[in-house]
Amino acid sequence: MVVPTKMLGMPLVARISERSPGLFNISLSVILFLFASVAFAQPDGEKLFKGNCASCHKPDKDMTGPALKGAVARWEGKGDIHAWVKNSSAYLKTGNPYATELFNKWNKSVMTAQALSDEEIDAILAYADAYVPPVPKGPDPTTVTPEGEGSNWPWLVVIALLLLVVGLSLSGVKRSLSNAVREAEGKEPEPDMSFGQRLRNWAWHNKAAASILGLFIVVFLILKMWDAAWVIGVYGGDEVPHYKPEQPILFNHTLHAGKADKGNLAINCQYCHSSAEKSKHAGIPSTNVCMNCHSAVNEGRTPEGTKEIAKIYAAVGWDGKAYTGKPEPVKWVKVHNLPDHAYFNHQQHVSVGKLECQECHGPIDEKMDVAEQWAPLTMGWCIDCHNTKDVKMAGNGYYDEIMARLEETDMGHAELKKYLDDEKISVKELGGWECAKCHY
Ligand code: HEC
Ligand code: HEC
Ligand code: HEC
Ligand code: HEC
Ligand code: HEC
Ligand code: HEC
Repeated sequence: MVVPTKMLGMPLVARISERSPGLFNISLSVILFLFASVAFAQPDGEKLFKGNCASCHKPDKDMTGPALKGAVARWEGKGDIHAWVKNSSAYLKTGNPYATELFNKWNKSVMTAQALSDEEIDAILAYADAYVPPVPKGPDPTTVTPEGEGSNWPWLVVIALLLLVVGLSLSGVKRSLSNAVREAEGKEPEPDMSFGQRLRNWAWHNKAAASILGLFIVVFLILKMWDAAWVIGVYGGDEVPHYKPEQPILFNHTLHAGKADKGNLAINCQYCHSSAEKSKHAGIPSTNVCMNCHSAVNEGRTPEGTKEIAKIYAAVGWDGKAYTGKPEPVKWVKVHNLPDHAYFNHQQHVSVGKLECQECHGPIDEKMDVAEQWAPLTMGWCIDCHNTKDVKMAGNGYYDEIMARLEETDMGHAELKKYLDDEKISVKELGGWECAKCHY
């Protein structure tokens, strides 16, 4: 009797699978698994949204532009939403009635053209549609576990394992079939083996493949565990959700400190955080600082904004003309929380180190309507920068002074002077990795 798979011209896969059924099934699983990982790497709607749209849109609330949730449905059959997002003013010229109505409804404010592909726009709109407002978080950043993009990987592992199981059970089915054939030919059937036995059997006969697969899994898990350990209980960076507590007054950093050419007020950070330059703390401004402007500016950009400004008046006891009532200080929720055993000083970094606020606080003036913790604030983060950052020597009064004194005294400081002379020296070389510099 001729077994069909032995026919001439049988497909290559069938030939491979016959020679080494276990290896075939497992390589199939691995290929499918890798394929699945690639399939997951679609454009990241949330990131694209935050980078390009969040200055004007919220997923679930109207802002400068309408809430994007449901936009796809609103455009269904009425126009080309991709063309609109790419260049809304060009699209308006087509005379599309829905677009025209939208434009008029939103005070004829023009949406900026967006250099994005259709897939990227779809990803953004899908993100907006799926958006669920976050549950308000308490001030303790250690109680919320990271979530989001990073969390695909457990699923990938589950899928890979499932495929492995399916692969091995298929090889069982194949065995039953071939046993049926053997029986028909009057031969002894192959011994029946459990799943574990089959796995061991396969590994024994394919040692190289088994060790490579094993190594792959182990390395993968270690890398993932390392990643997870690095971010446990932490917020910030590009991978981890940012800690962003709700504040008693919705103070908008982008609006106040953002660039003027984007329609913002471009107020200098230190106008409000004036002690950053000269003390440990940057400080939070008192409502009197707000009143320097808001005694005159009593209207925001939206009715909600105006209501928020009224809260400043309640806090300082202002009735629109004079201070009458009792002031009630605003209780801002602290966003950054270093543990007590770690010492951080703004003056050292802002005045001496000449670092921009944004190097540690991120694009707060570009895309943070609500102040959020952007950097992870782990020890790894501090010492990583101290290792790579060159101290800015040129034109820095502090180091000019040191150089002058070294030249005056010339008491065996040749080494140090050489260090300082080449104007390239990391914070680490100056002692920025000494435990006691950062720990009490
Ligand atoms: C500078 C502000 C601004 C930016 C940035 C911006 N938009 Fe808009 N968007 C608007 C305004 C304003 C409208 C209302 C229509 C109008 O007046 O042009 C709007 C309307 C829309 C609409 C139609 C909504 C509806 O209800 O039908 C969509 C969809 C949209 N924007 C998507 C996006 C996407 C996606 C991005 C980011 C890639 C983006 N917008 C970036 C201001 C902006
Ligand atoms: C008009 C005043 C004002 C300006 C200008 C301003 N801020 Fe703020 N900032 C505040 C207020 C009020 C808070 C407290 C409320 C909040 O967290 O949103 C705050 C909070 C912060 C926080 C979080 C503090 C915490 O609780 O840990 C950071 C970081 C910050 N600002 C950085 C900046 C930077 C960087 C700039 C310049 C790009 C800037 N601010 C400009 C008023 C201002
Ligand atoms: C080298 C990194 C770094 C730089 C540069 C930096 N900050 Fe900070 N900032 C921090 C850290 C870390 C904290 C948390 C401190 C704590 O909890 O004790 C913080 C906290 C704050 C706070 C909360 C209140 C406080 O003082 O603890 C404000 C406001 C703030 N920074 C504003 C600024 C402004 C404005 C600038 C620029 C002038 C700036 N920061 C530059 C790292 C930095
Ligand atoms: C240097 C001037 C200035 C200072 C200081 C200032 N603001 Fe404002 N703020 C403005 C202006 C101007 C607007 C209105 C912007 C507009 O309508 O385009 C505004 C708008 C607002 C709004 C409404 C935002 C919206 O979305 O409509 C709030 C809330 C607000 N400010 C809170 C504060 C708080 C709280 C402080 C103090 C920590 C403060 N501002 C300090 C100038 C200032
Ligand atoms: C973005 C880079 C950067 C980050 C992040 C950073 N630092 Fe620094 N740090 C510097 C620079 C630059 C200096 C050197 C200033 C100088 O002396 O010129 C410095 C100096 C210091 C010093 C003084 C060192 C000395 O030799 O006197 C201490 C203490 C310090 N940092 C603590 C911290 C802590 C704690 C953190 C984390 C919470 C941190 N830094 C995060 C850049 C950074
Ligand atoms: C540049 C500043 C810096 C230096 C230098 C530094 N640390 Fe840290 N360290 C920190 C910060 C900031 C934290 C808090 C991190 C957090 O809460 O995630 C920390 C946390 C720790 C913790 C964890 C404590 C806890 O509550 O979990 C230990 C232990 C520690 N440091 C030991 C050391 C030792 C030992 C050295 C010297 C070899 C050292 N550190 C040098 C900034 C520093």
